[in-house]
Amino acid sequence: SYRAKKGQKDTRVNRRIQKDVPKVVNMVDIEDIGEKVSYCRCWKSKKFPYCDGSHNKHNEDCQDNVGPIVLKRKEV
Ligand code: FES
Repeated sequence: SYRAKKGQKDTRVNRRIQKDVPKVVNMVDIEDIGEKVSYCRCWKSKKFPYCDGSHNKHNEDCQDNVGPIVLKRKEV
């Protein structure tokens, strides 16, 4: 699996999501998206690839400012 080697400084962004694959890619059909969906960009969500609000704790702990990408339908 894709983990830091012994003695290597662990600078990974992704600590635990699908560590058995070389690259985490999520495919979503546009047609399947409802009115609005939030996708995680902090890699801490327990519902990855969806945002579950975990970025708030991360931001507090790390003085960071990350958040989700929100896809929504245009209001017409
Ligand atoms: Fe990762 Fe919200 S939980 S962006």
